[in-house]
Amino acid sequence: MAESPLIHIGEENGIYTLTITRPEALNALNRQVFNELEAFFSTYNGDFQVKGVIITGAGNKAFVAGADIKEFAAMDAVAGSALSKRGQDIFFMIERFHAPVVAAVNGFALGGGCELAMSCHIRVAGNNAKFGQPEVNLGLVPGYGGSQRLVQLVGKGKAMEMLLTADMINAEEALRLGLVTHVTESGEEVTKAKEILIKISTKGPLAVKQSIALINAYFDKKTDGFESEYMDFGLTIGSEDSKEGAAAFVEKRKAVFKAK
Ligand code: CAA
Repeated sequence: MAESPLIHIGEENGIYTLTITRPEALNALNRQVFNELEAFFSTYNGDFQVKGVIITGAGNKAFVAGADIKEFAAMDAVAGSALSKRGQDIFFMIERFHAPVVAAVNGFALGGGCELAMSCHIRVAGNNAKFGQPEVNLGLVPGYGGSQRLVQLVGKGKAMEMLLTADMINAEEALRLGLVTHVTESGEEVTKAKEILIKISTKGPLAVKQSIALINAYFDKKTDGFESEYMDFGLTIGSEDSKEGAAAFVEKRKAVFKAK
């Protein structure tokens, strides 16, 4: 018998909401959740019908409380590295998705949950959100990119303190540190995420895709981001959409983009 889905998918005008639904385990990331995340992001990558994605957790207590600790019991070094690599690969798929992905963080975003939020392009938090990388409490290091992306987002000193102490930070501190860009009343985070994505959905889709790639290029040690920028400027200025954008500006009307 097929397993019932753990990610509930809603769609409205090309904006997809993925709700991770294991509230009894505070939405912890188990194998099935990983499979469903991978299926969604591999199926829709490059499909411009998808204009944006929101990832959130079911209930009001947790976004995602981490990797599923109960799956760790019998894991040896080889299996652990394989799991970590799989998590990293899925989170790279999110980070490299053509359309913006917003984490709407409602409650705990710990360990793999904080890492999932950090792989999204933008983070919005309800005022009950708590972020942390508590892996040292379990005698572990982060496995899904947290040791790298937390430094990118909050800087070396704070990332070091958070990883070593396992202390959580609240939504206001996350805002101050730049880990999130908006704090809302608890329960309003998905609405705010939608508002951001509706705005972005009116922009040139190719330009949005390449903007995501360019910001990612800054953090890719093998890529010269400035070179990528002049190549992408050429690519976008040669596109039908850029001609439409310029014509719409001159004619004082709204541009109608076709992702071409
Ligand atoms: N994995 C599996 N189950 C989890 C879980 C997790 N990460 N987090 C919570 N749960 C389960 C609990 O076991 C509990 O289930 P039972 O009722 O069956 O016992 C249920 O969710 C509710 O949790 P609590 O009773 O613990 O709720 P609380 O309000 O007392 O505490 C909490 C909330 C502080 C978030 C606490 O649950 C907690 O510390 N969770 C673990 C957080 C954590 O360590 N995350 C990192 C995981 S390791 C990781 O993610 C590695 C990586 O980078 C790849």
